[in-house]
Amino acid sequence: MTHDDPKHIAIILDGNGRWATAQGKSRTEGHIEGARTLKKVVQMLKSKSLKVLSIFTFSTENWQRPKSEVAFLMNLPKRFKKDIDELAAQEDGIRVLFSGRKDRLSKENLKLIEHFESSSQNNTGLTVNVCLDYGFKDEMVHVVQSALKAVSENHLDIKSLTPDHLEDWLYQPELPPIDLLIRTGGEKRLSNFMLWQAAYAEIYFTDLYWPDFNQTVIEEAYHFYQSRDRRFGKV
Ligand code: IPE
Ligand code: MG
Repeated sequence: MTHDDPKHIAIILDGNGRWATAQGKSRTEGHIEGARTLKKVVQMLKSKSLKVLSIFTFSTENWQRPKSEVAFLMNLPKRFKKDIDELAAQEDGIRVLFSGRKDRLSKENLKLIEHFESSSQNNTGLTVNVCLDYGFKDEMVHVVQSALKAVSENHLDIKSLTPDHLEDWLYQPELPPIDLLIRTGGEKRLSNFMLWQAAYAEIYFTDLYWPDFNQTVIEEAYHFYQSRDRRFGKV
């Protein structure tokens, strides 16, 4: 059974801390290495027919980590600004989008997000959807608020509500559904990540820690995907 290559891959990148501990390094060094890995992976995926890469960089639950680690993670967009700008400026440069809550981010990060999104908006290369302060339950609240607003303003009749309407209010409504979801780091759970968009995703788990993610695992994940019979509920 072969079918088209995935158009949308989503990655739950996990294991930065354990990678660092195993190397006798600090957790923050694991996050730096994880960000470097992300840059490499974007480069590797550019040669595929992939349209969208969604990445889970910081969850709505990650605020509960120690303050110093949260601050370090929140500083990564600034630290890697040059690298992200480079990926966008290349021939067939990436288009950058952000998904997540905007009300808890610093002014500085909001400015960076605006910079990355606007400077890359006309790029036709891989779309990289960065999920930051992202949680599906919060995205659902956003969807429901929008739906209630539409009803109260008489733009929507409750009885005619369909899944397509709801999709219009997702953070990034124009993105195609996730075909292949990859989670590194050995855990087998979805952790409140893009549950609507992943409704029919094939799910690939690898024990590798995110900083060890490489071309071989990408090929394995593609091979896994190609071997799946995607029936979408049909026979
Ligand atoms: C993933 O690695 C990075 C983030 C999503 C913030 P972790 O920081 O969760 O690494 P482990 O799971 O502790 O090894
Ligand atoms: Mg983890």
